[in-house]
Amino acid sequence: MTKSTTDQLHIETLLAQAGNRTDDDKTGAISAPIYLSTAYRHAGLGQSTGFDYPREAQPTRCILEQTLAQLEHGVAAFALTSGMAAIQLVFTLFHSGDRIIVSDDLYGGSYRFFDLLHDHYHLEFAVWDGQDQAALAQLIDDQTVALWLETPSNPTMKVIDIAATAKTTQAQGIKLIVDNTFYTPLIQKPLDLGADIVVHSATKYLAGHNDVLAGAVVAKHQADADALEFNLVTTGAVLDPFDAWLLLRSLKTLPLRIHQHEANAQTLVKTLGQDPHVDKVLYPGRGGMISFYLAENVDVDQFLRALKVISFAESLGGAESLVTVPAVQTHADLTEEARQAKGITPNLIRLSTGLENVADLQADLAQALAAAVK
Ligand SMILES: Cc1ncc(COP(=O)(O)O)c(C=O)c1O
Repeated sequence: MTKSTTDQLHIETLLAQAGNRTDDDKTGAISAPIYLSTAYRHAGLGQSTGFDYPREAQPTRCILEQTLAQLEHGVAAFALTSGMAAIQLVFTLFHSGDRIIVSDDLYGGSYRFFDLLHDHYHLEFAVWDGQDQAALAQLIDDQTVALWLETPSNPTMKVIDIAATAKTTQAQGIKLIVDNTFYTPLIQKPLDLGADIVVHSATKYLAGHNDVLAGAVVAKHQADADALEFNLVTTGAVLDPFDAWLLLRSLKTLPLRIHQHEANAQTLVKTLGQDPHVDKVLYPGRGGMISFYLAENVDVDQFLRALKVISFAESLGGAESLVTVPAVQTHADLTEEARQAKGITPNLIRLSTGLENVADLQADLAQALAAAVK
């Protein structure tokens, strides 16, 4: 599709058509080919097809990256080997001594990485509660270069107002970076709301089938895109052609999947809210992620063992429903004190609602909760 045609299309059409018409001059393949070649012939000195070496650009990955950029309304996107590789790439924009403010309820692996950056590379970090804009403005000093946030937060589902926050970061001249893994651009587009860079663990909803490890970075400004591209070509954690193709294929069904994840989650929020074995349900209002506190008389291990459809496994955003226990899995590296302060107690369960028939999920949760009473 030409750029002027694609600009007018709806996102569902863009995603369903991703990769089509990219091989018209050779085969007319509807599904974009997977190019495995790591070398590309030059016709002569100073000549190139645009592809020279796959760390720089690779045809299958390029189609994926263009699709990711369209999806998040950025000028460019980069597909990497994991979400953590994507986060690491963004931090190549910063220097020792820079100060980054982070929201207070992030993926545990992000905390671990920020600790490493502090201890080994002398970056400074400050924590913001994600709610009080005046407090944020006060936290920003001359050394501060960026605010990093996740919304909704993981695992306590706090929502941060991206548009209001972007006003504060823009007024103070610092970058706003949003980890958009949980909502995906189908629910919120941080770049449209004023953010500068978006990152994803594409392992989650974007890939959506619990079978691809991948990450993405999308930039709103050309200057950031150029710097990120240079640093990625230099450091090299680019996504391989097979996974790029799988991720591209997954994006075609993203709107359908998000719709169903959300519909299932909204039904389960009501079911869990009425179950006497559940103390409290945390749901940000949109999307497929729910957290809930088991009542005191429910044994966590028995509950996990009793589940027959839902699996106890550490990921999210896939077709199969999964539960995790953040205190011992995703957030195990935090101190006990930090977990308590955030409400990440041993009875907090995070549920990634899959694409199953919701009646089967309701029945599975009800029977497992009943079976786990002490
Ligand atoms: C919100 C969020 N960001 C980033 C990551 C890291 O992504 P990956 O596991 O693909 O490296 C995760 C992983 O769970 C996540 O949940």
